Amino acid sequence: MCYNPGMLEVRDLRKSFGAREALKGVSFSLAPGEIYGLLGPNGAGKTTTLKVLAGLLAADGGSLTVAGEPYHREHHELKKSIAYVPDQPFLYYKLTGEEHLNFFLDLYRVPYARRREKADFYFRYFEFEEYRSELVENYSAGTRQKLLISQALAVEPRLLLLDEPLVSIDPLVGRKFKMHLREVAARGTAVLFATHILTLAQEVCRRIGVIVDGRVIVQGDLARLMDLAGQGSLEEFYFQTVLEHEKPAEA
Ligand SMILES: Nc1ncnc2c1ncn2[C@@H]1O[C@H](COP(=O)(O)OP(=O)(O)O)[C@@H](O)[C@H]1O
Ligand SMILES: [Mg+2]
Repeated sequence: MCYNPGMLEVRDLRKSFGAREALKGVSFSLAPGEIYGLLGPNGAGKTTTLKVLAGLLAADGGSLTVAGEPYHREHHELKKSIAYVPDQPFLYYKLTGEEHLNFFLDLYRVPYARRREKADFYFRYFEFEEYRSELVENYSAGTRQKLLISQALAVEPRLLLLDEPLVSIDPLVGRKFKMHLREVAARGTAVLFATHILTLAQEVCRRIGVIVDGRVIVQGDLARLMDLAGQGSLEEFYFQTVLEHEKPAEA
């Protein structure tokens, strides 16, 4: 299959916390416009991988390339093309939702008129317009998540990193989010999802990687992987893969 890695190349990424090796050599790649699911059990290293990509953690080893350029934490120009939705929301609680979004977009140097336009769109699209002028401290978990997702999408990143973004979102808004994500990807944004919700991965991801114990043990085209494994569902494939987890494979 013709495949252009292009947007993100992660090679042999390593990260330890004291004696604990969280990432033991994580490798995978994303093409522009691709929605890629990083799946794996709790503690496998998904969040750590995304934090390194977001520039929040320094890796101990390995290499990263974004849009063909070597990427590191101080590469501010490249960082402007990356947006990150953390699994543990970090928010400024004394700002209103709109101020928060405005502030975030300002960090990415989005012009004022454009910020207004984005706020108009996302507060409406994710159905939390009535919280636009409310302090973030009064938001429910789901509304906080909507704000984080809106901000990240509003900067129109070339690479979007999502860590369990749908955990506190209700299914109706979740559905709109998935639709919007497909549109964003169709315009060229590469989307990296970390999730343990297999149905979500099955719905939106074309390619997946399964990370277990700090290593990507299988990656490839989702439909092809399931065919090869003779499995009709991602759930069966996932359990078989994680339980066996002996030798790496590529499809
Ligand atoms: N700040 C930290 N200090 C020590 N250990 C950590 C820290 N962050 C993550 N870990 C450990 O690294 C491993 C990978 O964690 P994480 O990337 O959060 O996994 P996942 O997101 O796949 O559930 C786990 O064993 C976790 O306990
Ligand atoms: Mg995690």
